[in-house]
Amino acid sequence: MTDWAKRAETYNNLYWVNKSRLNFEMMTAMGAASSSEGNLLDLGCGSGFLIRTLQTYFIRMDYYAIDRSPEMLALTRDRELSLYLRTYCGDMIEQMNEFDPDYFRWVTAKMSLHHTSDVNATFKAVHRILTSDGTFVVCEGIPPNPAALNWFKNMFALKEHRHTFMPLDLLNLFHKHKFHDITLRFAVFPRMRLRNWLENSDLSQDQQALLWEYHQEMPSEIKKAYNFAYDESGDDNDIVLDWRFVIASGRKLKD
Ligand SMILES: C[S@@+](CC[C@H](N)C(=O)[O-])C[C@H]1O[C@@H](n2cnc3c(N)ncnc32)[C@H](O)[C@@H]1O
Repeated sequence: MTDWAKRAETYNNLYWVNKSRLNFEMMTAMGAASSSEGNLLDLGCGSGFLIRTLQTYFIRMDYYAIDRSPEMLALTRDRELSLYLRTYCGDMIEQMNEFDPDYFRWVTAKMSLHHTSDVNATFKAVHRILTSDGTFVVCEGIPPNPAALNWFKNMFALKEHRHTFMPLDLLNLFHKHKFHDITLRFAVFPRMRLRNWLENSDLSQDQQALLWEYHQEMPSEIKKAYNFAYDESGDDNDIVLDWRFVIASGRKLKD
């Protein structure tokens, strides 16, 4: 099981965490305007970068966040978010079940849905706490193409226990849980450095070596899809890859 206390120590060193593109894609999927009012809940908020961005643009909303790790929540305080953010420490499903129904206009989950113990129970809990017409927005990392799915799953199995979602899986989940106006957006982070990810994810030296080797030995067609390359200096000091993400959203039907 992932040790989030340890991961929190270097979490903000991860390049992908501090890129604002995913925050903006999620904001677009929310369909909110700067004058929007209402409660927003972020699931697995981590160090709070999404909330920080949202607060800059949507100043009239009230912000809530759940994370099971006190150490990760402490990072939101480092970002001086605490004055404007109500935080809840615990499992996302259990914590959501504590809220009244129809309480949130928006629920967001950026790179956290893959950690939930029960995906359907999570969607069900989100649906219950959303207001009628409320929106759920999910962002997840995905393989570079469907043919790379098994490689991607096996690679992550070397790192952590988690779910993997293809865009169609998310679409089906939103549909199954009776959301409508479902949208899918995509984002690419080009030339992401493998070492930055390996060195800041609380992995043992053995795990890092295994993941490095697994990347090096990736089948050539997957290398092509990832735009796999060694870094500019031409040696094998680092591997760079294009990482892909999906941003999926859906609205709860009006009563
Ligand atoms: C990959 S991080 C993403 C953090 C943040 N959303 C971001 O984009 O930087 C996943 C976060 O989910 C939290 N988490 C994992 N499992 C959880 C669960 N069952 N309930 C609530 N939070 C959870 C972790 O503590 C961690 O902060």
